[in-house]
Amino acid sequence: MNHDESPVLDALAAYHRQDYANFCPPGHKQGRGADRPVLEVLGADVFRSDLLATGGMDDRLSRGKVLERAQELMADAVGAEQAFFSTCGSSLSVKSAMMAVAAPDDVMLIGRDAHKSVIAGLTLTGIRPVWVRPRWDAELHLAHPPSPHAFEQAFEEHPDAVGALVTSPSPYGTCSDLQGIAEVCHRRGKPLIVDEAWGAHLPFHDDLPTWAMDAGADVCVVSIHKMGAGFEQGSVFHLQGGLVDPVRLKQSADLLSTTSPNVLFFAAMDGWRRQMVRNGTELLGTALRLARSARAEIDGLPGLNVLEERLVAKEASHDLDRLQIMIDTLDAGISGYQASDWLRAERAINVGLSDHRRIIAQFTFADDEKSADRLVTGLRDLTRTSLPTPRSVVLPRPEDLELESVMSPREAFFAAQEAVPSGDAVGRTAAEQLTPYPPGIPAILPGERITAGVVDYLRTGVAATMAVPDAADPSVRTIRVVRAG
Ligand SMILES: Cc1ncc(COP(=O)(O)O)c(C=O)c1O
Repeated sequence: MNHDESPVLDALAAYHRQDYANFCPPGHKQGRGADRPVLEVLGADVFRSDLLATGGMDDRLSRGKVLERAQELMADAVGAEQAFFSTCGSSLSVKSAMMAVAAPDDVMLIGRDAHKSVIAGLTLTGIRPVWVRPRWDAELHLAHPPSPHAFEQAFEEHPDAVGALVTSPSPYGTCSDLQGIAEVCHRRGKPLIVDEAWGAHLPFHDDLPTWAMDAGADVCVVSIHKMGAGFEQGSVFHLQGGLVDPVRLKQSADLLSTTSPNVLFFAAMDGWRRQMVRNGTELLGTALRLARSARAEIDGLPGLNVLEERLVAKEASHDLDRLQIMIDTLDAGISGYQASDWLRAERAINVGLSDHRRIIAQFTFADDEKSADRLVTGLRDLTRTSLPTPRSVVLPRPEDLELESVMSPREAFFAAQEAVPSGDAVGRTAAEQLTPYPPGIPAILPGERITAGVVDYLRTGVAATMAVPDAADPSVRTIRVVRAG
């Protein structure tokens, strides 16, 4: 296929040449009605290219096949059979993939390190999860993705499971053995869904971890906005093989999606595909080189340890996206939350993820020597600053994280519920999910029996500035539980 083409961008350029008079949404009419102060901040071009997808970018019947061709080019670029664009994030794509594979009450094997959108998928559909446990590194207090062996065992115990879902890379950049898990699934004729929200760039450079379609996944979901050049919310799900029906997949996405997709999102994703096909190897090669040298420099700073080989050791993760630089702040005597806040307040540097003892600095194809240097300098300054002793977080033991499921997430979500002081929630069944964010992996799911360990972890975490934004009470003073009797 001709990857110099960009159907969406070409259609937008053609649209602008026509100088249409619009008597249809959007109401701002390409910015004419937008308030000046709004235009001053956002710029007129954002409004100018905000059009209807059908009856704007393309005609009423989409006869120009603009989106269709852009999706075909995307699939071709990454070696998938089909690609579908979503403007509702991987949060929508993940749910669509689940609905394409399983029906209400079907059992699906799911890595417990799943993102909260997977829990939303379970709640909406009534699919029954069998949780496959990640491997816990007690020293680093970090979960590594579950192994193929863990999925094998789960299939043996639940031969009726209709498929499996695994998250890789994790928000920490650690990766599963996707090939091994795909083999486990395919030996039984079951599909594998990979939530590869953090891996949009993987197909475009050989030194990055294997991307899910190459490893044999049936459906994989990527957020183009996380590691690529999409606008926030731009996501693609890819399909290959005969185990998942493309019509069901598309219709599932259609059920969940907006009827007013943002054309700007399509345009950015289409442009990113062209950019990656043309220059991806070079751009990502530069990013990898920058990240490698930043890793070494940061690791040389007093108190900061960059984790790398340790993460991909035996019984740990299968691979690592080295563009995600995981910096352990423990020896500096500060928490990741403090480091993140200080960098933002004092050096205007934002990092991706922070927890009680780590921050993640994410490199992408957009970085250069200057931005890399700014990060290293900011971190050096941080190590020369004296910050108060962090509030300690009571870290859960592995067994505290393995909460017993006593109801499905859907049953618990729709059950009669009440808010109780979090101390009294111990032993009760959670009716809501409590998710430290980032990374967005729920510590408690609806339907799980709450333990004292996990409550202590969340309460002390919040006191140390951990964010639990989706809880009804983000302070975690109270927790919603299923009403007794
Ligand atoms: C592993 C994982 N899956 C899915 C998502 C949802 O992606 P989006 O923000 O594009 O909806 C995220 C977002 O952080 C994520 O980390």
